[in-house]
Amino acid sequence: MNINKNILFVDDEVNILKSLKRLFMDEDFNVYTASSAKEGFEILSEDEFAVVVSDQRMPEITGTEFLMKVRELYPDTVRIILTGYADINAVINAINEAGAYRYITKPWNDIEIVQSIKEAAYRYHLTKENKYLNELTKKQNEELQKWSKELEYYVQIHTIDIAKRDKEIKKLKDKLNTISTNLLASFEKLIFLRSTNIAAHSERVAFISSEMAKKNSLSEEDIESIRVAGLLHDIGKIGLSDIILFKDLEELSTEEKNQYKTHPTNGQLIIGQIEDLNKVSILIRHHHENFDGSGFPDKLKGDAIPIGARIISLADRFERYSRYNEIDDSMKKIWLSVGKDFDKELFQVLEKVIFEHKHHLFSSEDLIEAALPIKDLMPGFVISRDVISSSGLIIIKKDTTLTEKHIELLSNSFYDDASKISIHVYKKRAKWQ
Ligand SMILES: [Fe+2]
Ligand SMILES: [Fe+2]
Repeated sequence: MNINKNILFVDDEVNILKSLKRLFMDEDFNVYTASSAKEGFEILSEDEFAVVVSDQRMPEITGTEFLMKVRELYPDTVRIILTGYADINAVINAINEAGAYRYITKPWNDIEIVQSIKEAAYRYHLTKENKYLNELTKKQNEELQKWSKELEYYVQIHTIDIAKRDKEIKKLKDKLNTISTNLLASFEKLIFLRSTNIAAHSERVAFISSEMAKKNSLSEEDIESIRVAGLLHDIGKIGLSDIILFKDLEELSTEEKNQYKTHPTNGQLIIGQIEDLNKVSILIRHHHENFDGSGFPDKLKGDAIPIGARIISLADRFERYSRYNEIDDSMKKIWLSVGKDFDKELFQVLEKVIFEHKHHLFSSEDLIEAALPIKDLMPGFVISRDVISSSGLIIIKKDTTLTEKHIELLSNSFYDDASKISIHVYKKRAKWQ
């Protein structure tokens, strides 16, 4: 900001004006003089002035009246009244009515008057600067307000946009979830249609596995993957023939065993097609691996077997044993395989889960399946699996209630190897504690 150096002296005595001009000759001011109020106003109208000094006693108008008018027209210009000693009333008026900054008495002290004018000019400069800064702040505030309003508007628009996109993403996710849930239900249905036994087995394996996963403090996502893998772990069996599906593992020929062993990889192949179920498909692949590396399909060992697969393997074995054995006996049989097929820590987790849920898992009213030699069959037993001859013919269908005639038919059909054959029937599960 430029400093205004214009000062105006108004006095009807030309000599005084001359001496003032002389006095300020060496100072850094643009000095103007006027010998009447009229001339003074003319000069003031041509430029901006920092200071106006007016004599009090002039013929047409008093200094106070002149400065009052100056105040009205140029409020920022600093006003000083020049007066004689005796004129104290004029000084008071000038200060009160014309807002004079100060008064200077005649005759003046040169140093004092120069100093006073300098201070007055500085005051003018400060007032102007202050005004300028105020204006600037006001302008900046207005701009800030405008920006903040615009920002608010954009944020609002953006928020609406984000909310809209969130909604769309949620909709898509919901849709995907529904598809996944429906697919899962279809797979379960498929297993159920192929074999109600495998379906029931899978459901129990899923329950025991997910409970074990929870006990092992796995993440929510892992627990869910393990539950789903439990439900679908034997889905690869749907392509196996009835003979392989319904015979006990120990009764299968080498060729049949080899076919049986394809079910984990076939299961992975089916489930792995769905991107969301990729993790699940890995668990399915490895649910027949053994802890010592003697399992299939990849002969993985120890911790190299995914923990979910190790859990399902234990739950699977327990579920199979407990169909024909009481709980304690099933656990004992599994204990014998700890270190070989299973790891000890997970066995202990299984023990806890079974102990906590045995009443839920096995009510005393449950029917259990038993494989009995022909000589132990009794009329009234219900056949739990189709009885198939060595040539593949169904001799007695599942769910048939045995009569003496049926038992006789079986004895005759398997006359040669009756002692090796077991017939699957339903028995009521013994109440255990
Ligand atoms: Fe299996
Ligand atoms: Fe299984």
